[in-house]
Amino acid sequence: MQQTISARDASQKLLAWYDRHHRDLPWRVSPPMAKAGVTADPYHVWLSEVMLQQTTVQAVKPYFHKFLSLWPRVSNLAAADTEEVMKAWAGLGYYARARNLKKCAEVVAREHGGIFPDSEDGLKALPGIGDYTAAAIAAIAFNRRSAVLDGNVERVISRLDRIETPLPAARTQMRARVGEMTPAGRPGDFAQGMMDLGATICTPKRPACALCPLNHGCLAFRAGDQEDFPKKPVKKARPLRVGAAFVASRADGAVYLRKRAEDGLLGGMTEVPGTAWTARKDGGITLDARPFEGDWEDCGTISHVFTHFELRLSVYRAEVCARNDSANGWWEPLASLEAQALPTVMKKAIARALPHAFSSAISPSVNEGTPE
Ligand code: ADE
Repeated sequence: MQQTISARDASQKLLAWYDRHHRDLPWRVSPPMAKAGVTADPYHVWLSEVMLQQTTVQAVKPYFHKFLSLWPRVSNLAAADTEEVMKAWAGLGYYARARNLKKCAEVVAREHGGIFPDSEDGLKALPGIGDYTAAAIAAIAFNRRSAVLDGNVERVISRLDRIETPLPAARTQMRARVGEMTPAGRPGDFAQGMMDLGATICTPKRPACALCPLNHGCLAFRAGDQEDFPKKPVKKARPLRVGAAFVASRADGAVYLRKRAEDGLLGGMTEVPGTAWTARKDGGITLDARPFEGDWEDCGTISHVFTHFELRLSVYRAEVCARNDSANGWWEPLASLEAQALPTVMKKAIARALPHAFSSAISPSVNEGTPE
């Protein structure tokens, strides 16, 4: 077996690199402070870690600032109106995270006097905090020697040791290796340094190995096959579901909206009326789900990728009379559409029917659904 880099050597090199090349992110304290034993605010670390689940750093930054300006402390978030939290979250995707965020804030405020537990086990007992998030908060906010393993770290470790076992089976071995490498002195910096290395140098495609502080100890680099790691399981195709969405507007520009059921996908979010989303081969698209009688125009389809399926929605539009009203929906003025808790898939449907409904482009890259 080839010689792998020692845990001690790897962590020292990684920390020295982090001191010079860390990303300045709004939820962090920069290394000179962390080296002096100063840790980041646990509320900031928790908020950022929940937002960063399945979402990029660039997408998270404006949401992080918005949440802190609306709710500067966990007790403010606990006391907030859930609808307002969902609205502020709209567009980040994976809406179960927002509901759990609110529940977690309430538990921390009510049962812990507004102070986050400082151990992995204590954190894991809170809503929405799983193994990864608990380890990350414990290391970054409380200087605990927790093994933090996210997608970026998995890539670094799998290349360093040229791990042939595919994910997710390889995780046990990877976690053990990260645990051994994590230094007692600066575990939070080490975790964030590994994340930064994975995000900026040890990238999925064309990694910048010449700049990597661990390159001499990296078995995949030596073998020249770094892009083949981590080994992935054979992918199942994402199934397709179809449905229809009906965008009704009034002469004054208002759009007819309703609230989705609390449970299930996008639970409690706002939508335009539509059919159920079905995997049936005959399409299951029926105009019976139209909210009003009218002259419905076919606007074509939009697609959206959820975690477990791809959705193709046929979008229809009609202008209807203001006196048409119904019990479970409401007319939203065009000017306030943007501020609604509309998931991206619904924004896409509305934008297809009413191209000028939103001032900014709808990001096609946000996947929505439930975390895997
Ligand atoms: N991804 C998840 N947590 C992160 C963090 N603390 N810094 C950078 N990227 C992250």
